[in-house]
Order: sequence, then structure tokens, then C-alpha cells
Amino acid sequence: MKTNRLSESLRKALNDQMTKEAWQSQVYLSYATWANSAGFEGISNFLFRHAEEERNHMMKILEYILERGAEAKVEAIPAPGAAPTSVQDCFNKVFEQEVGNTKGIYKIVKMSFDEEDWATWHFMQWFVKEQTEEETLALNLLDKIKIAGGEKAASSSLYSLDRDMLNTPDDAKLAEDKTAINP
Ligand code: FEO
Repeated sequence: MKTNRLSESLRKALNDQMTKEAWQSQVYLSYATWANSAGFEGISNFLFRHAEEERNHMMKILEYILERGAEAKVEAIPAPGAAPTSVQDCFNKVFEQEVGNTKGIYKIVKMSFDEEDWATWHFMQWFVKEQTEEETLALNLLDKIKIAGGEKAASSSLYSLDRDMLNTPDDAKLAEDKTAINP
């Protein structure tokens, strides 16, 4: 009896996304290491925590492939790429990376819709919401560095921003959770 409930095209797309999440974790790890070496403890702490989140995303997809009776393949992860050159560059890279990841998620959502694989479509909705949060979080980081002065930020502003990041929540509050008295 055939127990595999995933098409080969969706299995491969999910497997590729799983590898991409593992790669993202490595990228955040490398940015966190850079921030730590540059003396930004708060930013580094935030990025280390985020590296863990990406690993959790990888695990969710791995578990899903297995639950659907398909084969998951753990593959090589490409190198993380160049380290940031500044806090502004770091936050730009984080935003670009998240937007790139959203595209990968949307591709799988569309594939599952086209194949009428509603289980996968439903599973992917968690990631759609997560990506909205992650993009919002990345945009908030860009707002912070912009207010601090961007590439021209003074050391004192970067110091305050870094302290602030020690207490930055790991999740962003989304529009759908907001109300008129609690914007
Ligand atoms: Fe797993 Fe930041 O997306």
C-alpha cells in the first residue's frame, strides 16, 4: 500500500526549504558571531536566539515530511556568506534574507494550492504568519538603526541601540492582533 502522501514535487520543495531554514540558522549564527566580536552584546544575543528559531523552522518541515510518509533528506548547507560590515549592513542583510525566505514559502503555498494538497497548504499557513512576523521584526530593526543615524550613527547611539536589543522581543506584534486602544 502506498503510504506517501506527498507528491515528489512538493516533497522536493519542502526538502529544499528545510535546507534553506538550516542555512538561515547558520547565517544568523555568523551575524551573531560578527556582532559579538564587534562588541554588540545585545544585537549578538538577539541574533543567537534567532538562529535557534530558524533551526526550529527546519525541524518543523523535517517532521512534516516524515509525518506525511515521505522521505526527508538532510543535505549540505552552503557557507553563510560575507559577514556584515556595520550594524546597518547587518540589519539590511537580515531584512533581505527574510524577504527571500518569504518567496520560498509562498512558492510552496502556491504549489500546494495548485496540487490541491490541502494538508500541506494548511501546514504552510503557520509559515506565512511567521514570515509576516519576521519581516516586521526586520523592519523594526531597520527603523532602530535609522533613528540611531544609519551608517553615520555615533558610538553613543549604537551603544543605546545595543542595550535596547537585549530586551527586544523575539516576535513582532502583527496588525491582526492590534486594537484601537492597544495599537
Ligand atoms: Fe525561517 Fe526567518 O525564516
